[in-house]
Formats: sequence, structure tokens, C-alpha cells
Amino acid sequence: MIIDWTKIWQKMYDEMKNEVAKFKTKPTLWAILVWNNSSSLRYIKQKKKWAEYVWINFKLEQFDEKISEIELYNKIKSFNEDQNINWYIVQLPLPKHINQTKIINNIHPKKDVDWFHPNNQGKVLIWDETAFIPCTPAWIMEILKHENINVEWKTVCVIWRSNIVGKPIISLLINAWATVLACNSKTKNIEKFTTQAEIVIVAAWSPWLLKVNMLKVWAIVIDVWFTIINEKIHWDADTKLIDLVWSKVTPVPGWVWALTVACLMKNTIKAYKLQNK
Ligand code: GUN
Repeated sequence: MIIDWTKIWQKMYDEMKNEVAKFKTKPTLWAILVWNNSSSLRYIKQKKKWAEYVWINFKLEQFDEKISEIELYNKIKSFNEDQNINWYIVQLPLPKHINQTKIINNIHPKKDVDWFHPNNQGKVLIWDETAFIPCTPAWIMEILKHENINVEWKTVCVIWRSNIVGKPIISLLINAWATVLACNSKTKNIEKFTTQAEIVIVAAWSPWLLKVNMLKVWAIVIDVWFTIINEKIHWDADTKLIDLVWSKVTPVPGWVWALTVACLMKNTIKAYKLQNK
């Protein structure tokens, strides 16, 4: 069975529209785009479209890909100091000649609605009450909530260790009392772990890494990424999984973008509410 993400997505936007309708002013979200690869351009286009849909101004500053690290750093500094800029994001990835970590570490934590700054990531780790949730892990938790899947007493296997998805989702699951098996591409005999899990979350950018025989019966699979090879989409989970009626899988192109963008809007609305309390 495939989870119907559109229902979750629609509900999120309905709730957001209702909330923003009560605001006295229109929130503004700024974005910095440096690398014009097709994925980032698509993200930015979607962010603009859906921000406007929920009555959030979206302002984009676009730079040449050859911008130096110091120039970008200075731009970040000016965004941090600008009283008119309350919240902004830096679209990732950045070109190879720029140290991504250094740039993220310089975003003002209070303006960071993507929740990537180490101070903010730390709040997720210790589950501080003022924490937001980084966008991709946020929708994974939204899906589990929407499907009435309580992770308490359950074993969840997470395959990947990235800072923007793997590590925060591991923290969120631990905070929700799951037993978490944290795997990665160097895990030996990964099936030893996946076969123990009631839920498997895979975000490895590794085509068909997760096969049907690596799962428990009734396992729920949340597949985050796909790779495009020869114009064909290859999910991290073998698409044959779709035929397994007892698994809930989520491989629908476009949905990762849609839900990540929705969660960014949710964070921006939450930031606005906190500021105008
Ligand atoms: N690139 C891929 N996902 C994201 C995201 O959630 N935020 C930003 N800023 N860049 C991304």
C-alpha cells in the first residue's frame, strides 16, 4: 500500500492558511540561491509558489555560481544584521569551492527557519521546547503521525547519516521513544538490521539498496531519495516493494519536494508566531 501523501500535504496547507489569515502582517521569507542546478531551481520555484499560496512574501537573492566564499560569507553577515530580514534560507547544496558547513554555521540561529545551524540542531538533539524541526525529518514525523504510527516500543532502522536528514531524524525518533538502529553505506550485513525493524527509513541515494527480502512482514518503508540514471528514477527501495500489500511505501516523484516545502512554510509561520507573541 502506498501512503497517500497528498492528504497529509493538503491538511498541512489548510491549517497553515487558517493560521496566516489571522496574522496582522504578512511574514517574509528570504532565500539565497547560489548554485543553479535543476534540483535547487525546482526547490526555489516551489518555495516561492507555496509561500505565496499561504500568504508569505518570498524574496530571492540569486548569485553567480562563481561567487567566492568570502563574498557569500559577507552576504550572510549582511542578512544577519539586516533588521528587515527576519528569516532566510540558503539553498543547498553550495558549489564545491564553498565550505557549506562554514556558511551554515554563520546563519543567525534565530533567522534559520531551515533549522540547520548547529545551535538549532543541538536543540533537536536534546529536545528543547523552542526547537523547530528541520524540513525533511519534519515530514517523516508528520507521515508517521498522520498514519497513527506510534514509534514507542518499535524498532526503526534509519539508513543514512547526513546532517540534514539522517542525524536529526535519529534524534527525533529517540525523543519519541523509538529504538533506533542507525545504519549507513558502510554497515556490514545491513539486512541484519533492516530485518529487525518495524519501520525502515532510507535516505542513502543508493539505487535499490533496500530489497524486499531485507524486510520484516508488515514493515513500513519510508523512502526519501531517488537517483536519476538514464532519465529513469531509481528509488533507494526496490520498486517491487510497491507490490507488497503489507508494506506502506512512499515512492512518488515530486512528493519529497512538496512535503519539504510545506514544512518550511510551517517553520516560517511558527517563527512569525513566536516573534509576535
Ligand atoms: N536542499 C535540499 N533540501 C534542502 C532543504 O530542506 N533546505 C535547503 N536550504 N536546501 C536544501
